[in-house]
Parts: sequence; C-alpha cells; structure tokens
Amino acid sequence: MTFSYTHLGPKEVDFVAVAAEDELANGERLFVEIDEYTIVVFNIAGQFFAIHDVCSHDDGPVGEGELDKYQIICPRHGARFDVRDGTVKSLPAIIDIPAYPVRIADGMIEVGIPHDE
Ligand code: FES
Repeated sequence: MTFSYTHLGPKEVDFVAVAAEDELANGERLFVEIDEYTIVVFNIAGQFFAIHDVCSHDDGPVGEGELDKYQIICPRHGARFDVRDGTVKSLPAIIDIPAYPVRIADGMIEVGIPHDE
C-alpha cells in the first residue's frame, strides 16, 4: 500500500505555502503544521521533499531522524523511509508513510495536500 501523493498535480492537491525558499538551506529541514498534519520538509541538495512526521511502525516522530542520502532513519527503532516518495525501506516498519508534492512558487516552498485527505 502506498501513500505517496508526490505524483499528484495541482488539480488534485491544494498547495500550501510553508516558508520562503531561502529559509530552508541545503541539508536543513522544517516542521510545519498543515491542518491536523505535522509535515517535515527537507532540502536535500537543492531539491525539496515533504513527508508526514509519523512513523508507520509505532507512530514515532520520524522526521527527527538522521538522513542517509534520501532515506530517513526513524530515531525510535531504526526503520527507514525514502523521503522522495514515503516508501518503507527497512524493518521494523512495513507500511509506507505519506509523501507530498513540493513546488516552488514566487520564492515560496509549497506543499501539496490531497483534496480528500
Ligand atoms: S516508531 Fe519508527 S521504527 Fe518504531
């Protein structure tokens, strides 16, 4: 099962501005609240990615984990997820986590939230 929304276009998501592009430097991350979701936005080598800040193993705050290239390592028990699409890459998690499309518009980082979320 996948929760990757990264392929969705502007007709299927609402893009929400979360920060100015120059507020999130390369290698940094930003935690934002959108509706009832906590979402983590990453700048990895100038590309932006957004995932839900909840590990699918035991609901831990995965967004605080270390990054290994494009994989984030959950600080609680070490599950790995690809921040580009939310796919699970290592046990103990077995379910993907949501990943959201990110775009830059007028110098702002915008995260796309699916309409039916
Ligand atoms: S809560 Fe993330 S690996 Fe257990």
